[in-house]
Amino acid sequence: MPDLSITVDGLKLPNPFVIGSGPPGTNANVISKAFDEGWGAVIAKTISLDSSKVVNVAPRYARLRDPKSNDVFGWQNIELISDRPFQVWVDEFRKTKDKYPKGILIASIMEEYRKDAWIEITERCQEAGVDAFELNFSCPHGLPERRMGAAMGQDPCILEEVCGWVNSVAKVPVWAKMTPNITHIEEPARAALRAGCEGVSAINTILSVTSVNLDTLRPEPTVEGYSVPGGYSCIAVRPIALRMVMELGTMMFGGGSGKPISADGSLPIKGEYLDRSLSAIGGVETGDDAAQFILLGAHTVQVCTGVMKHGYPLAKTLCAGLGAFMEKHKFDSIEQFRGRSLRYFTTHAELVRLQAQAKAAEAAQRAGMVTKDTQWTGDKFVEQSEKLVANK
Ligand SMILES: Cc1cc2nc3c(=O)[nH]c(=O)nc-3n(C[C@H](O)[C@H](O)[C@H](O)COP(=O)(O)O)c2cc1C
Repeated sequence: MPDLSITVDGLKLPNPFVIGSGPPGTNANVISKAFDEGWGAVIAKTISLDSSKVVNVAPRYARLRDPKSNDVFGWQNIELISDRPFQVWVDEFRKTKDKYPKGILIASIMEEYRKDAWIEITERCQEAGVDAFELNFSCPHGLPERRMGAAMGQDPCILEEVCGWVNSVAKVPVWAKMTPNITHIEEPARAALRAGCEGVSAINTILSVTSVNLDTLRPEPTVEGYSVPGGYSCIAVRPIALRMVMELGTMMFGGGSGKPISADGSLPIKGEYLDRSLSAIGGVETGDDAAQFILLGAHTVQVCTGVMKHGYPLAKTLCAGLGAFMEKHKFDSIEQFRGRSLRYFTTHAELVRLQAQAKAAEAAQRAGMVTKDTQWTGDKFVEQSEKLVANK
């Protein structure tokens, strides 16, 4: 079995699979279950200092199913961050770390645009022993009204300032979680990395309206007859997540650019943040899904909705699937293939040029023309020479 372990920002994970912030990390009980089932790390549900402002509704999920198989492939939620009191969380962080000293426990935090609040939440979680932070700049519903979540993540200036506050007191790694509800995801990511964050995570959910009920004519999920756009996750978002992770991977680690890769193998686009980390999220349910994100530069791969569908034992399926992929390609470690596919992205103009070049070479070969020195043959030497003469 290949080695699935990964060291990222000094954190040692037995495998790259991380519970993404949400219901699968919503209290100490389920976090313990995740460690028992072998998850590489757990990101707890997002917390804030004052949970009394967080009021959830029910129903708060709506799902999209394949009409033939009935399998769920799209999932919308209008869930807020944790409604459990901050002090309860701090106690649970401490107890969880006592029980699983080697388990990587990451606190997901979110606050209003106030320096003292961000500093207090960072310091109090840190004192409770968490191994790292993920800053939630990406929740798309409910909290933007309070200028939190995606509202901050869509404004690189504010995001940079907030990351600076957190980094001024954080003694453990800090990841900033990006919203996909933005045109150029690299811009807030650069702001976070400029402000000293060790890494970025992407993506959070995509703002969506999943369905309108054709009997009641009401959008879903319907609460007292009304609804609100929510966050879309699950298999359906994976192609968008792959694209955004590709953009972040190229910006951070380098990649293709419409020019051929140099003879020494170096990439035409130079990476701006080779020493930082990338955590990929969005629609992962198999080891093959995860391998694709790692090929685009991810160090770790988070799973949220997949755990809600398949349960915590999914960790074993993911590890087996990723191990099988690595064995097939004879990769011994994650670092051997991380970011390997970034070089194969180019511009559309370059695709056109490459295709025209390939067609021309094919036509020349069909006409019996020598285009490479290896094509000369002893038998047809004179004929081949003749075909290359311009002024016959
Ligand atoms: C019900 C639900 C609740 C979520 N709550 C949070 C949250 O509190 N904080 C956060 O950063 N992301 C939250 N997310 C987003 C996930 O962490 C993840 O970024 C997103 O769902 C895409 O990944 P997935 O397809 O594996 O679910 C939530 C997602 C779902 C489905």
